[in-house]
Amino acid sequence: MCGIVGYVGHRSALDVVLQGLGRLEYRGYDSAGVAVLTSAGALAVTRKAGALRNLIGELDTCGRAGLSGTAGMGHTRWATHGAPTDRNAHPHRDTAGQLALVHNGIIENHVQLRAELEAGGVELISDTDSETAAHLLAAAYIACGDLPQAVQTVCRRLQGAFTLVVAHADEPDLIVAARRSSPLVLGVGNGEHFVASDVAAFIDHTRDAIELGQDQVVTITRDGYQITDFSGCPAQGTPFHVDWDLSAAEKGGYDYFMLKEIEEQPSAIANTLRGHFIDGRIVLDEQRMDIQELRDVDKVFVVACGSAYHSGMVAKYAIEHWCRLPVEVELASEFRYRDPVLDRSTLVVAISQSGETMDTLEAVRHAREQKARVLAICNTNGAQIPRESDAVLYTHAGPEIGVAATKSFLAQLAANFLVGLALAQARGTKYSDEVGREYAELEAMPAAVTQVLDTVDRVRELAGELVDAKVVLFLGRHVGFPVALEGALKLKELAYMHAEGFAAGELKHGPIALLEPNLPVVVVMPSPKGRSVLHPKLLSNIQEIRARGARTIVIAEEGDETVRPYAAHLLEVPAVPTLMQPLVSTVPLQVLAAEIARQRGYDVDKPRNLAKSVTVE
Ligand code: AGP
Repeated sequence: MCGIVGYVGHRSALDVVLQGLGRLEYRGYDSAGVAVLTSAGALAVTRKAGALRNLIGELDTCGRAGLSGTAGMGHTRWATHGAPTDRNAHPHRDTAGQLALVHNGIIENHVQLRAELEAGGVELISDTDSETAAHLLAAAYIACGDLPQAVQTVCRRLQGAFTLVVAHADEPDLIVAARRSSPLVLGVGNGEHFVASDVAAFIDHTRDAIELGQDQVVTITRDGYQITDFSGCPAQGTPFHVDWDLSAAEKGGYDYFMLKEIEEQPSAIANTLRGHFIDGRIVLDEQRMDIQELRDVDKVFVVACGSAYHSGMVAKYAIEHWCRLPVEVELASEFRYRDPVLDRSTLVVAISQSGETMDTLEAVRHAREQKARVLAICNTNGAQIPRESDAVLYTHAGPEIGVAATKSFLAQLAANFLVGLALAQARGTKYSDEVGREYAELEAMPAAVTQVLDTVDRVRELAGELVDAKVVLFLGRHVGFPVALEGALKLKELAYMHAEGFAAGELKHGPIALLEPNLPVVVVMPSPKGRSVLHPKLLSNIQEIRARGARTIVIAEEGDETVRPYAAHLLEVPAVPTLMQPLVSTVPLQVLAAEIARQRGYDVDKPRNLAKSVTVE
């Protein structure tokens, strides 16, 4: 998820764009860059790795005189393909330096496009997918001499999700932008127009906006705009007036980033899956170990902390079921102190949103010292853990500003399933058609999560009834057990409430002593269809809980009428494959914790005592 701004008007484009990038820096801060169509008729570009302040420092050092003009664009990057370096920073240009492009999203067919360009003698200088579009656009412009038409032509060739903003030195009074499955809004000013990833970039100048639709292209000039589809036919966007203040605008209108990030989970899953199933095979981002090394794996350790650890517990069920490999899931902080038995045939999967968690990083280093192979699952391109791993699968949840993990957790689940399928494919425990069917099931998960998000108002009502609770227990079995742990962790870290998750089968081995009248107990039910042997056992657990007067809050598959009579509150989720249920059953628990915290008056984005990344042991 990157921040993009484009401007054509009567002010200094550099000033407007830099201000806009400052409003969008929450969307990405790996690098930043600007391009200006100068009053001297040139296309000037400056870009710099690191936070926006690095770019501003570069501009102050090099001077801004060469960047005077009233049309330009800018970008703050959240790296997906290519580490966060100057070379990979946007804007990207064509070889002649006449065209500049900034991009948000993932161009799924960038490998093929890059090969085609290189076969034609084009030299690409970055590791990004975005640069391929810059060269294609330059060639299309030479062919047709019209920038909007060139953008339409190239957009028809791109696969995946993208927002593009394009400028060409030969067309100094216009900027062209396009979108597919990635946000783009148009700001309509008086004698000036804007394009941006979200309205926060331009609400200092105008609150009249138009949301572009799927597969649309918009051309902005000082005095107007024109919207078409990718074929060049006239099209309409959706006008709206922004009545949020700046802070709310940065949060997309939500009170907290976390609430917005919960809503972003469908796209976090979709973006994580995108581009990893090519020609019937699962492909990882970086795989510095050959297929034979994957085949030779005879044991897997998953190491992580907190929510990442809970996602790793789900990975265990998937990998053992799909790959017939023994999997141990270990808290990273415990891993190396237990002196684990590792060798060249051991695969250690290190899961980390930040990629900088010291406990997990030290576990990776210990694994490498023991000659084990390490595969990282990480949400931060170029972070330390991926850099020190043999293979990497990046999640594409975008920056997660809320300290509590939400979209990064669901993205980790999706990535864990991809790793499981990659191992099954390498070991031959699943045929390619079976891998394809599982992948297709995963591709249906964003819609399933959207369905849950459409029903969370009931969860918010329930939160009001629990806001004064002292203790909440969470129970689950099989993949529902890590969901119970994750739900308890959310309530702990957001509402500062004592919450405990445990395997429902353990109830009678001790925790049942905690039950008392009206005590809220959340039970994560398995599908009545999948692993049916577990469903009646959870039903018995619910009876035992009710028999002691506790209040049962049950998350169950929609249509599961057997559980309805025993649920004080029933939260229904769509039917999904057994292993994938955590993708839908976690969401109500995230909302419950955030809503209780909000009603308690706590800072949902910055809970007390916590940091987003724990970079000390
Ligand atoms: C979860 O909500 C917390 N933010 C915390 O447990 C987090 O998951 C843990 O610190 C691991 O962080 P990482 O994924 O960046 O390694």
